[in-house]
Amino acid sequence: MPEPFTVLVMAAGRGTRMHSELPKVLHPVCGKPMVEWVIGAACDAGAGKVVCITRPGDGVAEGLPDTVIVAEQTEGEGTGAAILAAREATGAVGTVVILSGDHPLVSSELISELVASHASKGASATILTTEELDPTGYGRIVRGAGGAVERIVETKHTEGVRPEHLALREINIGSYAFHAPDLFAALDEVGTEHGERYLTGVFPVISATGRRVGAHATDDVSSAMGVNDRADLMDVDARAQRRLLEKHARNGVTVLGSDSIRVDADVAVGPDTTLWPGVTLRGRTSVGSACEVGPHTTVTDSVLGDGVAVRHSFLDGAIVEDGATLGPFAYLRPGARIGPRAKIGTFVEVKNSEIGAHTKVPHLSYIGDADIGENTNIGAGNITANYDGQNKHRTTIGSGVKTSVDTSFVAPVRVGDGAYTGAGSVITEDVPEGALGMARTRQTNIEGYAQRKGGEPE
Ligand code: UD1
Ligand code: CA
Repeated sequence: MPEPFTVLVMAAGRGTRMHSELPKVLHPVCGKPMVEWVIGAACDAGAGKVVCITRPGDGVAEGLPDTVIVAEQTEGEGTGAAILAAREATGAVGTVVILSGDHPLVSSELISELVASHASKGASATILTTEELDPTGYGRIVRGAGGAVERIVETKHTEGVRPEHLALREINIGSYAFHAPDLFAALDEVGTEHGERYLTGVFPVISATGRRVGAHATDDVSSAMGVNDRADLMDVDARAQRRLLEKHARNGVTVLGSDSIRVDADVAVGPDTTLWPGVTLRGRTSVGSACEVGPHTTVTDSVLGDGVAVRHSFLDGAIVEDGATLGPFAYLRPGARIGPRAKIGTFVEVKNSEIGAHTKVPHLSYIGDADIGENTNIGAGNITANYDGQNKHRTTIGSGVKTSVDTSFVAPVRVGDGAYTGAGSVITEDVPEGALGMARTRQTNIEGYAQRKGGEPE
């Protein structure tokens, strides 16, 4: 059994190069805030305790799992100041792993490797490094004669940095393992540079006490990639997206036109489902097996059963049961629940409504705050007038109903099982079971009208 270790996630940076109102670590990668990716990896690697360093009131703490301890950085700038803020939460014993909240794709395997490497070498500190990235802006690893790390030279500001240091390709990827007491003792000795206390300033302090600073090199580029601006974010997101789509494809999903498909990190998709080009699956969406989704469909926080077909449509907060068909050009809004094998057709909007099994709403309709039974057919252009200007009211339509084209339902109103409505009716009163509800004026033809106006009929 490996020794338990504590993980500190640094997430309190200003991230000014993002040019954003949103804290950097809350920027999403495939729909999930960066910091949540890092915390997920720390938990998967078996961290005994996870501490996240945030700024008071920045909103980062709110989205974290309850098991994560939050330490607030209230004093000082820089990664060193961040770690000092977590001193009490960490405790003064054992191994502490430090991760950067802006390396969202750091893998749990790499964290485990770091811990193992650190333990096996009996080092005071172990730094994760790589030579696989463009080193611009990263801290460079300066090694001594015996290969031990002497120090890290920061290159975020290049003035005054020696050319031989700028030529170094081995970079610090901002993940470390430390013997906790050595870390905090050394940090107390680190001063400020460019207004920041650099965590990387601890390494010469530790080396000077004769204790070993090791490095563990990796070629895992995804883990190494940090996000400092939105161009970095774009690269990391593209890589994460590719990985997610590959995972779904390996699990039995056909992904057609992968460059135009976006699937968020927490989306589930069943086997034998096909995703066509232009599909976006967002948030907590889950798609069953043997579905056809797209082309050009956006689904957010919705649940699709098995065998659902949805083309050129937009769904948000909807539930769609097995075998239902949607679109082209359907719009399902929160609270739409579409029953098994029901059909929601072209230019149909459904909100906060339950549509029964086998019921069809094929063309040009708005169904809001309604309950419709099974095997009912809604004519083209039917509208529920659900809002009286102050309150919303429900429309209830039974099973086996056939409404004719252009029927309006002025809610609250009920239509009984097996009833009909006449074309163009404005239904303001309940229609009993089996009845035909007609609500429009009879047609009047004015004979000779055109002649009286003086024109010739064409
Ligand atoms: C840091 C390293 C650099 C390394 C790079 C890898 C230092 C001094 N430099 O530089 O050697 O190559 O990461 O990506 O550590 N943070 C806080 N509080 C702060 C400042 C930062 O919590 O006051 C957090 C940030 O949210 C971020 C992480 O620490 O998650 C790194 O901060 P950042 O400013 O991005 O450091 P880099 O300049 O990238
Ligand atoms: Ca960074």
